[in-house]
This record gives sequence, C-alpha cells and structure tokens, in this order.
Amino acid sequence: MKIHIITIFPESFFSYFSSSIMKRAIDSDLFEINYYKLNDFSNDNFKRVDSKAYGMHGQVISAEPLSKAIDFIFQKVWKKIPVVYMSPSWDLLNQEKIENYYEKLNWEFIIICGHYEWIDQRIIDIYVDYCVSIWEFVLSSWELAAQVFIDWLVRNIPWVLWNIQSLEEDSFSKKFNRQKEYPVYTKPEIFMWKKVPEILLSGNHKKIEEWKLDNLT
Ligand SMILES: C[S@@+](CC[C@H](N)C(=O)[O-])C[C@H]1O[C@@H](n2cnc3c(N)ncnc32)[C@H](O)[C@@H]1O
Repeated sequence: MKIHIITIFPESFFSYFSSSIMKRAIDSDLFEINYYKLNDFSNDNFKRVDSKAYGMHGQVISAEPLSKAIDFIFQKVWKKIPVVYMSPSWDLLNQEKIENYYEKLNWEFIIICGHYEWIDQRIIDIYVDYCVSIWEFVLSSWELAAQVFIDWLVRNIPWVLWNIQSLEEDSFSKKFNRQKEYPVYTKPEIFMWKKVPEILLSGNHKKIEEWKLDNLT
C-alpha cells in the first residue's frame, strides 16, 4: 500500500511509523509513505500556505498550494488516485465502515493534512473523494487523525500481522458479531483472589471456542 501525505508537519509522523508493527510493515515493503511538505508548493516568498478566512476569524490553508501538491502527486504516479481529507464532522468511522475503505482506496491514495482552522472548501469540492472522521470530537492535529486511519489500514494488509487469528478475533470483527472480544489471561493461574477460568486450562478447544463466544463483552 502506498500513501502520499501532504502536510506542513511531516515530522509528526516519524516517531509512530518508526516502531513496532508500522515499522515492520515499512521494512517489509508492505506499506510505503511519501511525504510532501505543503510549504514547498507555495508561491509566497516566505513559503506561507495560509490566508485569512473570509467572513470569520482565523487562518485557513489556501487552495493554490494544496492544489499544486495534489496535481504534483497525480503527475508523479501517472494516474488519478483517491484523495482523503480528515474531518471531525463527516463519515464517522467504525470497524465495519473502515473495512470498506480498505477496498475503496485501492492500495494507493493521498491524505491531505491541513492546519489552522480548516482548508479552503474548494479543495474539498474539487479534489476530495472521502472525508473521514475518526469520531465525534475535535483534535488539534490533522496528522494525529491521519495516523489513526493509516494504522487501521496497515494493520489489515495481509502479512502485516504475523498471527492472522488476531485480526479475525479482534473486537468488532465479523466473527464476533461486531462485539468486543473476550477477556484473556496468562500465568499465574491464580492472581490475588482471581483464578483463570477452568475451561481455558482444560485443553478442550471446542469448549474454549464456545467459551470465547459466550464471553464477548
Ligand atoms: C482544530 S481541528 C479544526 C476544527 C474545525 N474548525 C472544525 O470545527 O471542524 C483540526 C483538524 O484536525 C482534524 N481532526 C480533528 N478531529 C478529527 C476527528 N475526530 N476525525 C478526523 N479528523 C479530525 C480535522 O482535519 C480538523 O479540521
């Protein structure tokens, strides 16, 4: 999967993508990120990319540099690829919906990260295919919302997780009727006054599977 990220702050992605599952996916060429610093597409002498919003207080990312950055990527990859904008107020994600995004985005797409109040609406009207919200609250960072979205997509690329069963048995999976997964235990068998349920120690796989489904929370 290839993701092209337009942002003023590429460095805010570096730490998350340089450890654990994300790093392993990048090192194994299962996933690639390309960063485009929005200021590089500004015509302004000081590389500014924002302007005062009409009719309201605050600054907004201007249409020109964003449009140049998106067109640059289309030309670079020689095709029109989906464009995603993170927004607190559009298509609210849940596990079921996000599974569809995996198909829709078709292995290569652009994520626009803005800054200040918002981005010029005309970029959304003209270029954006999907406005994605990670939930009904407002973060101060587009980059953080984008990382949540990307994490999910990468986690679901075949071979990123070595144990495929962890994907199938995640909370909200189809197998678990979109419910939260069962409780899990490890050694010791008794911790303080709490014991591991007997059935999990029995070695009876059929009964253990039944127990899992009976104990979804
Ligand atoms: C400070 S907010 C801008 C708030 C904007 N004035 C509004 O009321 O929607 C910064 C940006 O981070 C991203 N963001 C914040 N919360 C988000 C969420 N829950 N889901 C997706 N993106 C979010 C959006 O792109 C948002 O525009």
